[in-house]
Amino acid sequence: MNAGATKPASAAAPPRPAASVEDAPHIAGAAETAAGTGAGVPAGPTPTTPPAIDITGLTVRYGQVTALEAFDLQVARGETVALLGPSGSGKSTVLKAVAGFLRPTAGRVRLTGRDVTHEAPNKRGIGVVVQNYALFPHMRVADNVAFGLRARRVPRAETARRVAEALEMVGMAGYARRYPRELSGGQQQRVAIARALAIRPPVLLLDEPLSALDAALRADLLGELQRLRADLPDVAIMYVTHDQTEALALADRIAVMRDARLVDLDATDRLYRRPPSEFTAAFLGAANLIPAQVVRDCADGAGDAQARVGALTVPADPARAFRAGETAMLVARPHTLGIEAAGADGTLPATLTGSQWRGATYRLTCLLDEPSGVEVRCDVATMDGVPALGQPVGIRLPADPCVLVPTGTQR
Ligand SMILES: Nc1ncnc2c1ncn2[C@@H]1O[C@H](COP(=O)(O)OP(=O)(O)OP(=O)(O)O)[C@@H](O)[C@H]1O
Ligand SMILES: [Mg+2]
Repeated sequence: MNAGATKPASAAAPPRPAASVEDAPHIAGAAETAAGTGAGVPAGPTPTTPPAIDITGLTVRYGQVTALEAFDLQVARGETVALLGPSGSGKSTVLKAVAGFLRPTAGRVRLTGRDVTHEAPNKRGIGVVVQNYALFPHMRVADNVAFGLRARRVPRAETARRVAEALEMVGMAGYARRYPRELSGGQQQRVAIARALAIRPPVLLLDEPLSALDAALRADLLGELQRLRADLPDVAIMYVTHDQTEALALADRIAVMRDARLVDLDATDRLYRRPPSEFTAAFLGAANLIPAQVVRDCADGAGDAQARVGALTVPADPARAFRAGETAMLVARPHTLGIEAAGADGTLPATLTGSQWRGATYRLTCLLDEPSGVEVRCDVATMDGVPALGQPVGIRLPADPCVLVPTGTQR
């Protein structure tokens, strides 16, 4: 399916159980108003082609609670942006505002240049899979998927064709006549995604679509979402998750959120490789943050930067300009560190305090001698040669310079 080659449809179907069409007025009776949205424009926002999704200054308050504060984000046609952040950071609030399920306190939402901030959800032409998926329990799978199409009076033959196509895309072609109760959780989730896709939306919003599934099913469906994404080269996707694996696997860019705010936003690989803040380094890839002192003035990305940790001086990759003597954090992911015998040349002296078998690796925890009390996690493939718990060890930093981020960017 090539959604961009077709006229975009309206009638997003936020999947909630409903006893009847009347119980879901935001789905039913949708009028086609999104004419031209996303169709026939080249990928990527340019001065002449507005982004598929353009969020500016979005603020949502519930009384004293600020769910979202001055949030800005643009998503280009064909781009997938993941909203990643801990529970309560405001991810779903962003999606709800884009879908039209809530009215923001301030700010604007535009879809391909059209201001939809105060438009009803069913006029926006968006495909939505909400956080706690739920299909209409009294409808068969095919009818669930056909819902948005019938609401906009797509002819019967075309509806049947699109339902079959959407079910095929999510690997559920053989399940059209079943009721939701006759499906597993993962299968129901696939149907919810098929329902969002059936209307061929130029914009697809997915809120933790895999969170209710067990680990094996999650991995399966993640692979399918990757394939699906390749099949939908023109669709702009916002994907909410608190799972970094999903964000890394699916997103072109990641927006990291914390406490109702956008913390960092960048291309997925860049954000992972050169996180700009302590928070993003720790959240995306569970990096160790090792306090260090900058040896001499350095610019952002300077090739000859150095940092001092304990008695070691090591090359560093500064995420911003630093002054000599400034304290900063070295970002070191657990799998990049090695454990050696205490006193080995060029290692950080530490004490081994814990070991946890994780199947493919062992996660070791160590306390650095200097700076004292700093805990460092280190993943190793084997315990061969690793000293006993409570014994001194030497921690080997990676050969490539560690990224250096400013302190106080826990944000
Ligand atoms: N209707 C509401 N009334 C009051 N506070 C709300 C309401 N909806 C959300 N909030 C608050 O807004 C904040 C952001 O909520 P949101 O649902 O966007 O978080 P989230 O990042 O999606 O979290 P999770 O990962 O748990 O789904 C939270 O502190 C939440 O308690
Ligand atoms: Mg949420």
